[in-house]
Amino acid sequence: MMNKPIPIAKDIYWIGVNDLETHLFEAIWPLPQGICYNSYLIDDEKVALVDTVKRGFFPQFLEKIKELMKNGKTVDYLIVNHMEPDHSGSMRVLREVFPKMKIVGNKKTIDFAKGFYGDDAPFQVVKDGDTLKLGKHTLKFFLTPMVHWPETMMTYDVSNKILFSGDAFGGFGTLNGGIFDDEVDLSFFKNEILRYYSNIVAKYSPMVQKALGKLKGLEVKLIAATHGPIFRKDPSYIINLYDMWSRQETEKGAVIVYASMYGNTQVMAEAIARSMAREGIDIIRLHNISKSHLSFILTDIWRFKGIVLGSCTYNTKLFTPMDTLVRTLDNDKLTGRVLGIFGSYSWSGGAVKALQEYADKCPNHHAEPVIEAKYAPTDEDREKCVELGRNMAKEIVKEGPAKEC
Ligand code: FEO
Repeated sequence: MMNKPIPIAKDIYWIGVNDLETHLFEAIWPLPQGICYNSYLIDDEKVALVDTVKRGFFPQFLEKIKELMKNGKTVDYLIVNHMEPDHSGSMRVLREVFPKMKIVGNKKTIDFAKGFYGDDAPFQVVKDGDTLKLGKHTLKFFLTPMVHWPETMMTYDVSNKILFSGDAFGGFGTLNGGIFDDEVDLSFFKNEILRYYSNIVAKYSPMVQKALGKLKGLEVKLIAATHGPIFRKDPSYIINLYDMWSRQETEKGAVIVYASMYGNTQVMAEAIARSMAREGIDIIRLHNISKSHLSFILTDIWRFKGIVLGSCTYNTKLFTPMDTLVRTLDNDKLTGRVLGIFGSYSWSGGAVKALQEYADKCPNHHAEPVIEAKYAPTDEDREKCVELGRNMAKEIVKEGPAKEC
């Protein structure tokens, strides 16, 4: 039963919870299939919890802990891998139940704990590579800053070779009965883990690479992240995907994102798509930015090599949702892509100029031509769309990352 602790290894239990109530994670990212907050309990001579759950789910979380503490034991340590409140939210109220429980984290964890919860708990500060012996189990700590916040760390159970990885390797989606990679629909989670990565972690890809480098050589039999399934059948599956995404290695396909108020920019988007398809690009995602949520657009953008951005002009600037997307891509330092731009205007222009400004400063290959239609696209504009699609396709099928301009 999901409301009971589930053993994941000898003496170690999953005590996470499903959240099918929240609509937007971090008040931004849609959760159509919910999310789970994973926490783990290590039942040794000293009992340790690894992370907690979002505050509102504390009652069912506590129920699971109490189920395991029937022998009169108490919780001795709370290992805090990450302080974002989806994991630390129950810290303070948990201390009211287990007042002697020590909080284990690094120097930065303490600042967050004090700042968020005014917490004066007994802290045990650990440094990179420090260990903590619980009895039969020894935990080793790896500081992995910015995966996803500055205080982020991972905890490795030396005896069972389990990596409690925090946000890394985790994704959206609840655990619907199965909790292990061999018990769930992995294709669903692959996409939801990429969505989590592209929405939340992608900006810190260089730091993800550093963390993966630090873990290299470590024997990992099981990955237990704070979201999504536990990888026991094949932990290398998700490690390899994370490596690929954080190197911005992409698949052969294209994403066209357009903003169109009255259909003229959409006509251009469809002409570019048709041209790419004729040139052999068989995965093309077409997003109307007024309809597709940024979350799903970013997921596709992080996956594919070809990106085409098109916008109508709105009050002399980019259409507002397109402006948000461009700022996000700039902030995420998107690279290694083939980028095409186009747009339209009726009286002032401004959208294509803004897209060009972004293109000029981003390290991607820029496909020609840049197309700007006045009023409705003319036959000549449509011909240019065909040309852009053709040039995009040529670059997308080339081996390796796109050559920077
Ligand atoms: Fe799952 Fe960065 O929190």
